[in-house]
Amino acid sequence: METLLKQAGDSEKGLKRTLGAVSLVALGIGAIIGAGLFVRTAAASAEAAGPAVTVSFIVAAVGCVFAGLCYAEFAAMIPIAGSAYTYAYATLGELVAWIIGWALVMEYALGAATVSIAWSEYLNKLIGGGIPYEWSHSPFEHVNMVVGDAISRFPVDIAHLAKNNVLLLSDDQLKLLTTDLHSLVITHSGIVNLPALLILALLSALLIKGTEESAVVNGIIVFIKVAIVLVFIAVGWHFINPANHTPYMIPEDAPGHSGFFKHGWGGVLGGAAIVFFAFIGFDAVSTAAQEAKNPKRDMPIGILGSLAVCTILYILFSHVLTGVANWKEFAAQGKEASVAYAISTYMSGYGWLATAVTIAILAGFSSVILVMLLGQSRVFYSMANDGLLPKVFSDLHPKFRTPYKSNMILFVFVGAFAAFIPGSVAGDLTSFGTLFAFVVVSAGVWIMRKSNPEVERPFRAPLVPVVPILGILICTGMIIALDIQTLTAAFVWMIIGLVVYFGYSRKNSKLQ
Ligand code: ALA
Repeated sequence: METLLKQAGDSEKGLKRTLGAVSLVALGIGAIIGAGLFVRTAAASAEAAGPAVTVSFIVAAVGCVFAGLCYAEFAAMIPIAGSAYTYAYATLGELVAWIIGWALVMEYALGAATVSIAWSEYLNKLIGGGIPYEWSHSPFEHVNMVVGDAISRFPVDIAHLAKNNVLLLSDDQLKLLTTDLHSLVITHSGIVNLPALLILALLSALLIKGTEESAVVNGIIVFIKVAIVLVFIAVGWHFINPANHTPYMIPEDAPGHSGFFKHGWGGVLGGAAIVFFAFIGFDAVSTAAQEAKNPKRDMPIGILGSLAVCTILYILFSHVLTGVANWKEFAAQGKEASVAYAISTYMSGYGWLATAVTIAILAGFSSVILVMLLGQSRVFYSMANDGLLPKVFSDLHPKFRTPYKSNMILFVFVGAFAAFIPGSVAGDLTSFGTLFAFVVVSAGVWIMRKSNPEVERPFRAPLVPVVPILGILICTGMIIALDIQTLTAAFVWMIIGLVVYFGYSRKNSKLQ
């Protein structure tokens, strides 16, 4: 503890302390509002919760609050860049700390990669699909297209699916075609996702330039996205059709909703698991603890404040969205573009708002990527300081005092992932890494209260051990609910981590 606190106090050589309470709340909101709100709200509503997706948001928020309180206690007590990694280091020892640091790569690095792929998709949508498929997709993806007059030679039941003179066919549909028709289909394979690389490069450069500069840009982006969310809520409120809100939960006899997590209160829980993703990111505030001007006061404000603001926005937003359009429509009408769909179908005269929402989504994705990249480099910074990773990850730029080498290496790593791997692979792994960290941080608060009762705690989580125990239980429950592929991939990743630890880190550790 003493060494850690001394490190935190050493502001001469280390990271620069530039962030105040407002920047920290904005950093949290920057990381939080993104695909979870704009894409998953409609999905959760259509698949599980119906209009009661509002309640799903409340349930997910309650789950996060327990972990959030624990993060706030730690972040104010040990204001060091490593977040959950550092807290584990202080309470549970080096090996557990390593494991959690390794798991955080799934949250931050993979999270950034996933969101940059989504960013690329939306950019293409905004500019009318102008980026060639090859240059905006990974080599593992392909698309079967029929364009122009050739479409009219297809049977009507397929041809009517064409949009803007382009007909897209699945591989299964392709197999059923006659050789004649087959020859009309052009298959494009992805080569590299250039827009995803572009946004990662821009944001990495910004992070290298400085944390303060990054916070300013983040603040502007957050302003834009929150403003558009508020406008959607205010305008959309007048277009709510009360009939869309009755019944409020999906009835048991609704077609395709027979499973426990698909209707009624069970559906609300199922929806909570889907929208949990929308809350990921408030913990990233704690990775900036070493750059906060007054971490003792401002860390709890940043973490809990951003969580509170986003929860309120989420409930209002989902109330309006499911009131404007019926939840049943979201299953069919491209879940992804649900918000734009609701606006253009039911809110006549507000076409511009649909475009504004797409801009808000792009802005939202950008700030999520920015804060995730920031978080990852700060976790690596602490790990390298402790000798568990090579020193390049903790080298600071002589002028900007940012871990610039780490930012560059991360760009290569995250960029390779974003450029060459399909986006669907990483989303749930992000949830795994986050939940795992939540469990360890909750446990850590409890352990620390027993092992180091005397340490000054500027912020104390209430009702310990009830709050940490609830945090552990809820987050473990959500981990168990993840699908088996995700759990297997996470397990393999953790094994690789152990190999690195016993092969490199243990020998180079400063503690050892
Ligand atoms: N909470 C972030 C999002 O929804 C990860 O995109």
